[in-house]
Amino acid sequence: MKALRWHGTGKVSVDTVDDPQILDPHDCIIKTTLTAICGSDLHLYDGYIPTMAAGDILGHEFMGEVVEVGSAVHTLTKGDRVVVPFPIACGHCHYSTREETPLCDTSNRNGEIQAEAYGYAAAGIFGYSHMLGGFDGGQAEYVRVPYADVGPLKVPESLTDEQVLFLTDIYPTGYQAAVNCDITEGDTVVVWGCGPVGLFAQISAAMLGANVIGIDRFPERLRMAEQFAGATTIDYSDEDVFEKLKELNDGRGPNACIDAVGMEAHGMGVSGAAQKVEQTLRLQTDRGTALIEAIQSCGKGGVVSIPGVYGGVMNHVNMGAAFGKGLTFKMGQTHVHKYIKDLLGHIEAGELDPSYIITHKAPLAKAPEMYETFRDKEDDCVKVVLDPSWDDDHEVEVRTQKVDADA
Ligand SMILES: NC(=O)c1ccc[n+]([C@@H]2O[C@H](COP(=O)([O-])OP(=O)(O)OC[C@H]3O[C@@H](n4cnc5c(N)ncnc54)[C@H](O)[C@@H]3O)[C@@H](O)[C@H]2O)c1
Ligand SMILES: [Zn+2]
Repeated sequence: MKALRWHGTGKVSVDTVDDPQILDPHDCIIKTTLTAICGSDLHLYDGYIPTMAAGDILGHEFMGEVVEVGSAVHTLTKGDRVVVPFPIACGHCHYSTREETPLCDTSNRNGEIQAEAYGYAAAGIFGYSHMLGGFDGGQAEYVRVPYADVGPLKVPESLTDEQVLFLTDIYPTGYQAAVNCDITEGDTVVVWGCGPVGLFAQISAAMLGANVIGIDRFPERLRMAEQFAGATTIDYSDEDVFEKLKELNDGRGPNACIDAVGMEAHGMGVSGAAQKVEQTLRLQTDRGTALIEAIQSCGKGGVVSIPGVYGGVMNHVNMGAAFGKGLTFKMGQTHVHKYIKDLLGHIEAGELDPSYIITHKAPLAKAPEMYETFRDKEDDCVKVVLDPSWDDDHEVEVRTQKVDADA
């Protein structure tokens, strides 16, 4: 089969590899019908996630058709059309039964590597380093899915792949980020980042009753925040974020701040440059410009909710500000299994159409160029989906009309 593989920082290619096999009676094999590139994949592409190996297959946002099931799988049969949550969970450990699936005790077969760094091991994740299990990812024609009775969710024929694909990750991720803000009707929730995760956090916070403010510097992303979530927006390259948020919130600051940026945050001026230097010199693993600003900007007694991914240690975090203002922190990989059914219900009810955020659709063969376009935010790129059934030379479909729509 064809699969997108990582070969080092900034190097990916589509290669021919062996088809996946059933390795355990609880596995199934899925023929991928649609897969996406995530901001989390950029952390791998840019070389910031340890324990990657040349040849690893990437991708954790994928869906498709079940083509083979192991002898112990009861809930799926050949031909089922499913979306697959990105965390892999066994379904019966302490954390799985609490629906805290990214904390599963069982699924990460290399858990000892992570436990050494973090104290305890978290779950395995598709296509996300050996520390997280070394599982092949879904930017491929076929994928092996372990614990097939636990993760994959059947989706109704009435919805297209594009409408349900983001249930695998970014829609639940944005939703959990908003839920973690403990929103009361009329609260102000500020979201750093208007990428896919930030956009889903904004629309979810708005649906939970918040007034939403979105921050970014790319005009097309700011415009999408306004159109998709009804957000007020701030271009941080143009305005002082702290002062602006103070002004917009009666001098008190927002009730909750969501960091939907993570470890590769861009920063302005000298402090932004210093962050980059410290990360390059390995004086810190993560650049926390957005998180640092969120902590500073958050109103007293507020919540800082962090869906953005962090890998290790970070400088310049003002714990005194967090402590002095009595802030609450909530963060982590998303409990996709917990939210996926309810969120499918919202899509079925027509409350939102997640496919809105797709700006680029391409054949799998063009994944390497799409990684570059997405990383560099070229061509107004916000979200890339890859269709493995498209011919290798199929033209990239660019949906600027949706972003530009001035409605
Ligand atoms: N917790 C989870 O389970 C989970 C799931 C999916 C993605 N993520 C993480 O969420 C983050 C965002 O993912 P994405 O797909 O939206 O990525 P993305 O790269 O498309 O979006 C990030 C956005 O942040 C903006 N940004 C950068 N620096 C900023 C700053 N200082 N202030 C404000 N905005 C800034 C960028 O311009 C960009 O639009 C990543 O860290 C990703 O790994 C986490
Ligand atoms: Zn993702």
